[in-house]
Amino acid sequence: MKKSDIHAQMRRERDSKRLLDQARQYVYEYIDAVDERPVFPDERAIRNLDRFDEPLPERSQSGSGTLDMLNTYGAPGTVAQTGGRYFGFVNGGVVPTALAARWMADAWDQNPALYVISPVVGKLEQVCENWLCELLGLPDGTVAGYVSGSSTATLCGLTAARYELFRRLDWDVNAKGLFRAPPIRVIVCHQAHSSVFKVLALLGLGKDRIERVPADSQGRIDSSRIPALDDRCLLLLQAGNVNTGAFDRFEEICDPARKNDAWVHVDGAFGLWVKASPARKALAKGVELADSWSVDGHKTLNTPYDCGIVLCRQRDSLVAAMQASGDYIQYSDHRDGMMHVPEMSRRARVVDLWATLRYLGRDGVAALIDGMCERAVQFAEQLAIHRFRILNEVVFNQVLVAGHTPAQTRDILANIQASGVCWCGGTQWDDEPAIRISVSSWATTPEDVDRSVEAFVDARSKAMPDHSDAGQNSAMTSPPGKNPKLSS
Ligand SMILES: Cc1ncc(COP(=O)(O)O)c(C=O)c1O
Repeated sequence: MKKSDIHAQMRRERDSKRLLDQARQYVYEYIDAVDERPVFPDERAIRNLDRFDEPLPERSQSGSGTLDMLNTYGAPGTVAQTGGRYFGFVNGGVVPTALAARWMADAWDQNPALYVISPVVGKLEQVCENWLCELLGLPDGTVAGYVSGSSTATLCGLTAARYELFRRLDWDVNAKGLFRAPPIRVIVCHQAHSSVFKVLALLGLGKDRIERVPADSQGRIDSSRIPALDDRCLLLLQAGNVNTGAFDRFEEICDPARKNDAWVHVDGAFGLWVKASPARKALAKGVELADSWSVDGHKTLNTPYDCGIVLCRQRDSLVAAMQASGDYIQYSDHRDGMMHVPEMSRRARVVDLWATLRYLGRDGVAALIDGMCERAVQFAEQLAIHRFRILNEVVFNQVLVAGHTPAQTRDILANIQASGVCWCGGTQWDDEPAIRISVSSWATTPEDVDRSVEAFVDARSKAMPDHSDAGQNSAMTSPPGKNPKLSS
C-alpha cells in the first residue's frame, strides 16, 4: 500500500464501521462464553500467545485481520474475571452499563486534562466528586482526582500530605525537595498493602525510615501501639486488609489524630465502599475523620479498568502538590482535571464511573457490596462444613482457607488453579500458606459458590487423599455448621 493510501483506508474504515461491527461480534461471543470457559487460560491458549511474537510489520496490515488475531489468540489468553468464579485478586467484574458507556467514551476519545479540552468530562468529574462524597459519607469540600488505580491514588494522597506537613514547617517541598528538609514522621502498620510501601519509596520517604506498627490477629493496626502523634506525622490506615478484609478502628484512631493535627491517609482500595452499605458501614465508622483516602472503582464497584480515585479533604494541599504551569495551559473557572492528579493527559475514565454510579444508584451500590459479603460468608460456611479451616473473621469479601497441613494447602491451591472451574490466589497468613478467596464481582451467584466449593473438595481429594481422610477426624478442623468467625 502506498503511504498516502493509509489515510483513505482509515477514512473508509471509520465511515463504514465494519471494524466496530466485527469487534462487537467478538465481544458478544466472549460475553456469551465467559461463564463456561476455563477461568484461567488452558495450556494451548497460553502456547498460542506466542503468535504475537512477530516482527513489527513494515507495512500496514489489515484492520480486520488485526482484530481477528486478538479474538483468536488474545481472547482465549484472558482470565475470565468478568464471569462468576474468579476469586484470585480483588479484581472486580464489570457492570454492563458501565462497559457500554466506556465504549461510547472510547469513541469520543476525550482528554480530561482541562475543561477547555473536554467540557463534558470536566462536568462528570465534578458530579462524581459530589456523588462519591455523599455515598461514602466524606466531608463537604472533599475533592476527587481520577487516576489509574489505588497505587496512584495513594501516591496523590501522600504527595498532598507531604506538601502540607512540610508547609507547616515553613518548607516548600515542591521548590526545595527533600534535601536538608526538616524531619517528618511516617507511621504505618506492618500489614499495610505493598503499594503503600512502594509509594513511600517513590516519595523519598524511605521504606526503612518509617515507623512500623504491629497488627492484630486480623491485620488491623494495633491502635494501642500507635506512637504519640503531632502535626509532623503522617499516619496510614487501611479500610480492607488485602488478606482478611479487616478494617482498622478508625474512630478510635482518627479522633485523637485529628486533635493532634496529624495527617491520616486511608488506603480503602476495595474496602472504602463498605460505607455505601447501610448494613455494614459501621465497619468503617470514623473513616470520614481522615484527611485523604484512596479507593478503586475497578474493584468493589465493578467499573471497567482502570479507575482509581484519590479523595482529599483539603483541596489546596492536593492542588498545590499536583501543580503544573506552562504558557499554553489554560485553566478555567470550571473543573480542570489535571489540577488533582499527576498526569496531564488521561483516559476519560470518569465516564464509566459516572455511568456505574448513576445506573446502580445508592440502593444498587449497597446491593452489590452486600451480595459480595454474603457470597463470602456462604463460601466460608460451606468450606467449614467440608472441614476446611477458615483462618479469618469473614467481615467483608475476603476468605482465607487452609487445608490440614501447609503441604496440603499448597497442593489444593495448585489443583484449584489448574481446575478451570474457579481461580484463587495464595498468600501467607500467620506463618502458614493460605488460599485467598476474594469475592468481588456482581456476577458471582450462590450457584457459582456451590460449584467452587465442590472444586475445593475435588482439589483436596486429588491433593492428598490420605491426609484428607485423616482430616475428616482431625482436631485441627473447624466443627461443621456455623463457624464463629463468620458474620452474615
Ligand atoms: C488494599 C489495597 N491497596 C492498594 C491496592 C493497589 O491498588 P491498584 O492495583 O488499583 O493500584 C490493592 C490492590 O489489590 C489493595 O488491595
